[in-house]
Order: sequence, then structure tokens, then C-alpha cells
Amino acid sequence: MTQHVTAAPAATDSAPVPQWWRDAVIYQVYPRSFADGNGDGMGDLPGIAARLPHLRDLGVDAVWLSPFYASPQADAGYDVADYRAVDPMFGTLTDADGLIREAHALGLRVIFDIVPNHCSDRHEWFQEALREGPGAPARDRFHFRPGTGPDGELPPNDWESVFGGPAWTRVEDGEWYLHLFAPEQPDFNWDHPAVHEEFRSVLRFWLDLGVDGFRIDVAHGLVKASGLPDIGHGEQVKLLGKQEVPYFDQDGVHAIYRDWRRILQEYGAERIAVAEAWTPTVERSARYLRHDELHQAFNFEYLTTGWDAAALRDVIDRSLTAMNAVGAPATWVLSNHDVVRHATRFADGDAARGLRRARAATLLMLALPGSAYLYQGEELGLPEVTELPDEVRQDPAFFRGAGQEGTRDGCRVPLPWSGRRAPFGFGPADGGPSWLPQPDSWRDLSVAAQTGDPDSTLEFYRRALAVRRAHPALGAGRDIAWLPSPDGVLAFRRTGRGGSFVCTVNLTASPVALPTPGTLLLASADVGPGAGRTVLPADTAVWWAA
Ligand code: NOJ
Repeated sequence: MTQHVTAAPAATDSAPVPQWWRDAVIYQVYPRSFADGNGDGMGDLPGIAARLPHLRDLGVDAVWLSPFYASPQADAGYDVADYRAVDPMFGTLTDADGLIREAHALGLRVIFDIVPNHCSDRHEWFQEALREGPGAPARDRFHFRPGTGPDGELPPNDWESVFGGPAWTRVEDGEWYLHLFAPEQPDFNWDHPAVHEEFRSVLRFWLDLGVDGFRIDVAHGLVKASGLPDIGHGEQVKLLGKQEVPYFDQDGVHAIYRDWRRILQEYGAERIAVAEAWTPTVERSARYLRHDELHQAFNFEYLTTGWDAAALRDVIDRSLTAMNAVGAPATWVLSNHDVVRHATRFADGDAARGLRRARAATLLMLALPGSAYLYQGEELGLPEVTELPDEVRQDPAFFRGAGQEGTRDGCRVPLPWSGRRAPFGFGPADGGPSWLPQPDSWRDLSVAAQTGDPDSTLEFYRRALAVRRAHPALGAGRDIAWLPSPDGVLAFRRTGRGGSFVCTVNLTASPVALPTPGTLLLASADVGPGAGRTVLPADTAVWWAA
């Protein structure tokens, strides 16, 4: 049983916090898989709006929605055909407007996803470029080039798509166009002023509607090295890799974000942007967060660090140093819609161990200074669904890559909300459709099944977020003080408004006895009672008021 000696007090401070994002807990909603309002098997905006009270009760500060714009869905909406329209599959603009208002009424901020590196091949600009042919100005808004080889039958350079295969596709008139992702996702040419102007206008469109910020897709990819030079080595590019390549993390991207920061500022200091930038190091990520650029960047180095005390301590230290140097908050994240869920990543083949570690990892993450991102379903302890039949999969990486590797459908299975029969309240009808099938075992993981059960992962998350909210020293501030601890154990103190706290995490496979640092606030699993010393079981974290 999870122990929590201190009752979780309700949030007390309702005054506006000027820099709310600095210690915000932000929850990612993946619209197609969150809640299906109309029963077609696909999640939608009315479904999300109806379930917002779950997020308020969970205790998060903001919700980030992955794209719901008009899209042929070649990459689950990250192929946008119209940046100002809601895809009918997800609802209407009125629904988007209503969702923002309802979220605000519940005290939740709303972040939308913006996809500026590429659009859909059905976007009117790309259609125009195809129609008008080689040499037409419409082609300059993308990267069209003649091919190489005697008849131009080879791609213009050796770049490979993140999803596998060449990053170039040849059109009927013989020219090739660049797509770092699927062929249905042509890259914009950010050397073209019209591209800048268009995205300024798109940002304003959603800011005018009332959105609190943006998550910037492939924020590190917009600018390509001039001349589009060959990489020169045959190494396959991976979405989650740490590549240094002529199309990622080029210095030129920063001017774009300085421009965007000015636009955000026009709407007041509370509108923010977070970069999805897979840079080689946290130091390179910090460059996106200089005072006149963006507010946050995802900490993918943290996400990709395994269950290893020394490695985690190292990435925590380097993240804080890098972010403090530019005055930006660190961010922490364990899962998103592109990676294997962390309950499975940490499992090493043992699901119970994976869940134990996932809960401990949550307490560690939520005790660090800065902002934390949660991915829908982690509050239910959902594992990755590893046994999806090929015929239901939709991830382009699955079809273009090598078999299972790189597939991202297993973390996108619709959420279980209630009931004993699939789709477990995801849609309105028992036995109704869901775009990916849910495992039968998820009946015991639904929100309804876990609510009120003190041992459930959902109640554990609710308590953790309530304690964090009541004790701002847990998330606020910039630094941690490491305490002496045995190998494989992390222990640190946080001091700030609301008191002083200690977080201890046993990452080893055996119980460890530690000096009791104070009063137990919350533990991820049962801890042994002790006078002066407390026994932390394997893979367990504890918060102490100390
Ligand atoms: C990152 C997004 O998170 C991912 O889902 C998408 O496939 C690529 N960017 C391309 O937009």
C-alpha cells in the first residue's frame, strides 16, 4: 500500500502567478486517443472538453493538445493541410474555442501544437507548387531541386527521412522535393519570407482565440544548412537520435524564435512556447531558451536516460546548469506519443517492476525544480501495447522503417475511462469502436476502476500533484542539494517557499536502509517503518518534509 502520512491539502493560492510555466505540470492530450465524443472510434475535441474535469481533479496546470488541424492524417495530424481549420474528424473551430474557454473556467491553461517544419502534401501551397512546375515561384516555398545522376534519377543529396528511406521524392516533371519525414510532409523553405509571414499569422490566429501557448514541432529543423550539403556518411537518421546533421539545430533557427517571442509578448507575458528540439545536448537545447527566445524545451536527454542513479544524477545536474545559465526553467518528461511508455521502458521484461519504477520515477521528476510534462495515461500506469496486429497500425514509421522498430502506435492506444467492455468509456457506447484496440486487461486500469483505490496509480498521481501544489518548494526554484547516499540511491534536498524537502530514490534491486530525514509525505510504495532509519524497498521513491 502507498503511504502518505500528510493529507494532501487543497491548493490555496489562487492569485495569478506571473511566470506560471516555470514550475507548471503540463499534461499532453493526444486527441485521437483521449476521449471520443461522437462514437466514431476516434477521439475528438468535444470528447476532450467533456473530460477536462479529470485533468482538473488530477491537479495539472495546463494541457497541451497534439495537432487536430485539417489533415489527411498521413502522420496522425502532424501533416497539416490547413493551419487555421479543425479537421472534421476532431470537431469544429467552435469546439476548439469552447475547449479553451472550458479549460480556462477550470483553471487549466491550454497549449496547442504548431507544425512549422513541414505541411501536408495536400496543403494549398504544395498543390500550387506541383501544378505550376519547375521554376515557378510557388516552388520556392519548399525545397524543390533537380536530381543527380545522368538523368536526374538520383536524389539531390544523401539525406534520409527520419521515418526511413530517402528524404526526397521525385514528382512527375522530374524535380525532387525534400521531406525530412514522410513523403506526404514536404518541408517548408524557411529562407522564403512568405513562410515567415504565414506562420506569424497562424500564431496570431490561435493567440486571438485565447490559446496560452504553443508546442513547436521539430523546432530544431526549420533551417537547413545552405546549399543542402551531403551528410557524407551512411548513418541512418533516427527520430530519437542525437544526430549532428545539416538539417537539425542550425544556428539560423534562433532568429525565427526571437521573432515569435515578440509576437507572444504582444499578447502579454503569460503566453509561452515550448520547443520540441532533439538537440545533441542539453546545452544546445538551452540556446533555444535565451531570454528573447522560447520559454521551455523538452528535456529529451532526461527522457532517454535509463533507470540508473548515476546517469540520472548527471543529466539532472547538467540540465539545471544549462538552463540556469540562460535563466530558463528546466523541464522533465518521461513519456510522449513518440516513445515507448516508461512503465514498459523501465520494466526489463517484468511489468510489475516497470510500474514500480514508473511510480518512483514520477516522484523523482515531480521533486525536481522546473516544469514537468505528463503524457496521457501515465497517471493510470498504462504500459505500452506491444501486441498490436500489423493491420491496425497507422504509424508511418512502421511502414517505412524496419518492422517493429520505430513504431509509435503502442503508446497511442485510446485511454480506458470506465466500464468492463472495450472501449472502456473511450467512446459513448459499450462495444463501440476505437481506432486502435485496447487490451482486455485495461478494464482494471480505467479511471473509474482506479478512482478511490488508495493503492492505485491514479490516486498516487493525484496525491503527488496535490502535495506538489501545496508545497511550492517541490517544483519552484533552480537548484537541488545532493545528500550523501549509497551507490544506486539518489537523495537531495529542496529548500524554498513552503519549507524544506528531501527526496530519496532507491534505484537498486535490493532494499536499502537510510537515515530518516524527516516526516514522510508520500512514497511510491510501502516503506519499512523505522526509528531513525527507514528501509526503502527496491525501485522506490519517498518525499519527506525535512
Ligand atoms: C514530432 C512529433 O512528435 C511526431 O509525432 C511527428 O511524427 C514528427 N514530429 C513530424 O511532425
